[in-house]
Amino acid sequence: MQAHTESVRMFGGDPREFNGDLLVYPVEEDIPHLAANAPRSLHRVLQQGWAAGDFKGKKEQALLFYPGLLDRGDEPPVQARRVLFVGLGKQDDNIDVRREQLRLAGGVIARQAGTVKAAEVLVVLPGDFLLAAVEIAQCLTEGLVLGNYRFDPYKTPREDSDQPGRVAVFHLHHGTLAATAVTEGMTRGRVLAEAVCTARDMANQPGNGWTPAEFADYGKKIARQSTLKCKVLDKSALQKLGMGGILAVNQGSALPPCLVVLEYRTSRKHPTVLLVGKGLTFDSGGICVKPPAGMEDMKYDMCGGAAVITAMQAIAETGVAGVNVVGLIPATENLAGPAALKPGDIIRQYGGRSVEIINTDAEGRLILADALAYGIETYKPEAVIDLATLTGAVIIGLGHHRTGLLANHDALAERLLAAGSEAGEPLWRLPLGPEYRKQLDSRVADIKNAGSDRSAGTITAACYLQEFVGDTPWVHLDIAGTAWDCTEKSYIPKGPSGTGVRTLAALLRHWQPLPAAGASPGDAQQP
Ligand code: BES
Ligand code: ZN
Ligand code: ZN
Repeated sequence: MQAHTESVRMFGGDPREFNGDLLVYPVEEDIPHLAANAPRSLHRVLQQGWAAGDFKGKKEQALLFYPGLLDRGDEPPVQARRVLFVGLGKQDDNIDVRREQLRLAGGVIARQAGTVKAAEVLVVLPGDFLLAAVEIAQCLTEGLVLGNYRFDPYKTPREDSDQPGRVAVFHLHHGTLAATAVTEGMTRGRVLAEAVCTARDMANQPGNGWTPAEFADYGKKIARQSTLKCKVLDKSALQKLGMGGILAVNQGSALPPCLVVLEYRTSRKHPTVLLVGKGLTFDSGGICVKPPAGMEDMKYDMCGGAAVITAMQAIAETGVAGVNVVGLIPATENLAGPAALKPGDIIRQYGGRSVEIINTDAEGRLILADALAYGIETYKPEAVIDLATLTGAVIIGLGHHRTGLLANHDALAERLLAAGSEAGEPLWRLPLGPEYRKQLDSRVADIKNAGSDRSAGTITAACYLQEFVGDTPWVHLDIAGTAWDCTEKSYIPKGPSGTGVRTLAALLRHWQPLPAAGASPGDAQQP
C-alpha cells in the first residue's frame, strides 16, 4: 500500500518569510483584495492583474508570478520562489456550494503546484469567506490533499520525466481566522482526504495486487494502529455460518473469500450504525462472462469495500460521539473456474432463503445479502448503509455525476442526501416498490438474482437487497457511476474517485437517533 506521506501543517510565521516554492492567496471574485497584512507588492500585482482583466478571482482562475522581481526595498521581501493567486468565485448563497468552492480552489492549487514541481507550499486562508473557520480549513485541506493524489507505484521512475510533481508539505497560515479552529479543520480535512486517497490506492491496484487477502490484512493493520477491532471470517467460518452467497460467487476463483469485520465502539448504550461495502476484487461476470472491452475496469468492483474500510479508519482517527459503527466487507473474485456457479443453480443465502441464479454477473447482491443479513442479526443496528458498484444501469440513469440512492426509510434517506451534499458527493434517490420486486419472482426458488429483462436494473438490484434487511432502516448507494471516471474536478482525477468515504464521515459525525417513523418505499422524495 502506497503511503500518503504528504502532510498539511500550520505555519505560524509571517507569510513573507516563508522560503518555500509557492505562496498562495485565494481571492474572491470581484473583491480585489488580499488578507489585511499581505505584502504591498502583492497587492500591486493583484491590482495590475485585475486592471488587465487577467485575474478577477473567478472560480478556478489562477495567476502565477515571481515575487523576486517586485522588490523595491520599501518592505521586507517576499521569500517564496513563486506566488499564486487562485480564484474562489463569487460566494454562493448555498453553504454546500461554498464548501465546494474551497475544495475546488484547493485542487487548483495542488495542480498548479504540481506543474511547477513545488515541494513546499504555503496557503494563506481567506478571511472573509462566509463559513466557519473550521470548515474553511477542512474543505481547503481536502481539496489540496485530494488534488495532490497520484498513483505510480508500477511506473519505473524516469529522471527526465515531464510529469507533474507532488507536493511534499502544504503549510496553512490562518490569516485572520482563529488558529485553533483552523488547526482542527485542517486535521479533520487531512484525515478524511488521506482516507479517500487510500481508497483510491486500493482501487487503482490491479486485480492481482488487491485480493480478498489484502482487504483482510489492511483491516488487521488499521485495527493494530487504532481503537478499531478487526475480525476476519475466513472460508471455513463462512461455511459454518451458511454464507451461501459469498461462497457461491467464490466457487470459480482460486483465492479464498473472506468477510472483514471492523468495529468502532463507544458505549453499549449507544446505537450502532452498520456499513457494508461490496469488495469484489475482480468481476469477470463468471460463467455469464462480460465482453472483453473495458473488462479491466472490473478491478474497481471493490470500491464499496474500499470506501467502508477507509471510512472506518477515518472515523477511528477523528472519533465520532454517541454512536457505534460496524463495517463489513464481503470480499471475493467472480471468475469462471471449473467449479464456478452456473445459471440455473440454486443456492442459499445466510438465513436460508433459496436463490435461483439467472445471471452469474449479478454477483454483488449475492455477497451483500449475506453480509447485510448477518450484520443485522449480529449487531441489531439502528441503521444500515451499503455501498456497491452494483449495476451498469445506474450509469445509464444518472451518468457519472450522481450516486444512486435507494432506501426503505425516508428520514435516513434525507440524511444521506444531506451528507452527500455537504461532502460534494451528490446523490439521487430512486424508488423501490412491489411492482419492481415482482421481476425477481422465481418459479423454483424463493427469489431469483436477476430479472428476465434489463429494465429498472438498479431498482431490481436494490429490491433484492431489501429482502435481506427486513424493517431495519436501510440506504443502498449504487456507486457504479461515481466510483471511477466521476465528474472530473480539480480535486478528482481520472480513475477511482474514492467516493462515499467523506459522505459516510459527514453522516456519522452528526448522528442523532432516527425518528421512529417508518418507510414509504414507493415514494422517492427529492430534497
Ligand atoms: N459490477 C457490475 C456492475 C457494473 C457494471 C459496475 C458496469 C460498473 C460498470 C455488476 O456485478 C454487474 O455485472 N451487474 C449486472 C447485473 C445484471 C446481470 C442483472 C449489470 O449491471 O449489467
Ligand atoms: Zn457482475
Ligand atoms: Zn460486480
